[in-house]
Amino acid sequence: MPTPAPPSTRQSDLVRAARRESVTRTPVWFMRQAGRSLPEYRAVREGIPMLESCMRPDLVTEITLQPVRRHGVDAAIFFSDIVVPLKAIGVDLDIVPGVGPVVARPIRSAADLDQLVPLTPQHVPFVTEAVQQLVRELGDIPLIGFAGAPFTLASYLVEGGPSKNHEKTKALMHGDPGLWDALCARLAQISGEFLRVQAQAGASAVQLFDSWAGALSRADYAARAMPHSAVALGAVADLDVPRIHFGVGTGELLALMGQAGAEVVGVDYRVSLTDAVERLGPTYAVQGNLDPALLFAPWDVLERRVREIVEEGRLAPGHIFNLGHGVLPSVDPDVLTRVTELVHECSSRR
Ligand code: CP3
Repeated sequence: MPTPAPPSTRQSDLVRAARRESVTRTPVWFMRQAGRSLPEYRAVREGIPMLESCMRPDLVTEITLQPVRRHGVDAAIFFSDIVVPLKAIGVDLDIVPGVGPVVARPIRSAADLDQLVPLTPQHVPFVTEAVQQLVRELGDIPLIGFAGAPFTLASYLVEGGPSKNHEKTKALMHGDPGLWDALCARLAQISGEFLRVQAQAGASAVQLFDSWAGALSRADYAARAMPHSAVALGAVADLDVPRIHFGVGTGELLALMGQAGAEVVGVDYRVSLTDAVERLGPTYAVQGNLDPALLFAPWDVLERRVREIVEEGRLAPGHIFNLGHGVLPSVDPDVLTRVTELVHECSSRR
């Protein structure tokens, strides 16, 4: 039985900002807020491989809550990984520390597609259980569910691991568009269902991570990636959860990422929020966009930049403060707490 998100989270600043409604102050969370920057994370992960930790509901719950307790952020992001649904359907892969996802049998031919069977909720009971447990613990604080977008997942599957230039991925996309689209159609079902499982278990918002979409031209994104992301986002269109669509280096793609079926478009630090709002128009809320490296700068420099971003965010019909990409493991977590407090203080509408 679906357990919809608690009604109180519908009135949270995060969900209201995503819906372009008035807020009491700018909501803030950080991509990768749960993770190696926190000593309490390193302590509970000690000796437990990443993928195993994602499949243990008690551990997922604890790790997801850690940054909420510590920083007072406005949302929790579900602790998992974009490759978890692939692992769950039986794809032979691992997350190698310091490297990222590594795939045993990369996808290069039509026969390789057999690895990708449709995802069902029965493949990921540990996700449903962890989300339900988290929603109970979080009360009024919204939980954000997420999935990887088909293009970014395809890049890992085709390359066999992380890639700088995505050369095998692009060779397949252009050399065999039929196989490419068949691959991405399967991934769109998997991503969409992974989002749906989380939303039906009580997540209040979802984010689709197309981290590597910025490697594509606008024409290639429109023809070969966006339609598949639209299918993934469409899988939760009926569930009344705002959808955030994020990528890195996607300044040229922002409008298309909105049109793919999002309420909120994630902006990395390469494009100012002012420019992003101009490119997006009044239809979308924005999320972003502090450069994660600035968390290492002197406080006065960082403070000025945070205040600027909050001000620029007022130009948008809705703004969720975040980093332009994930928290770096070596950051001082106290700085994240201070940034959270600063965003709240300088955006307070009361
Ligand atoms: O706090 C959060 O943001 C929630 C958890 C989360 C993780 N991965 C946990 C994780 C989220 C949202 C992701 C998404 C993810 N995973 C993306 C998209 C976001 C992005 O950063 O662009 C991508 C590309 C991946 C693939 C992946 N998984 C990479 C590149 C790595 C890093 C490998 C390394 O060791 O440097 C992972 C592993 C991973 N996923 C870690 C965490 C906390 C680190 C593993 C560890 O702590 O041992």
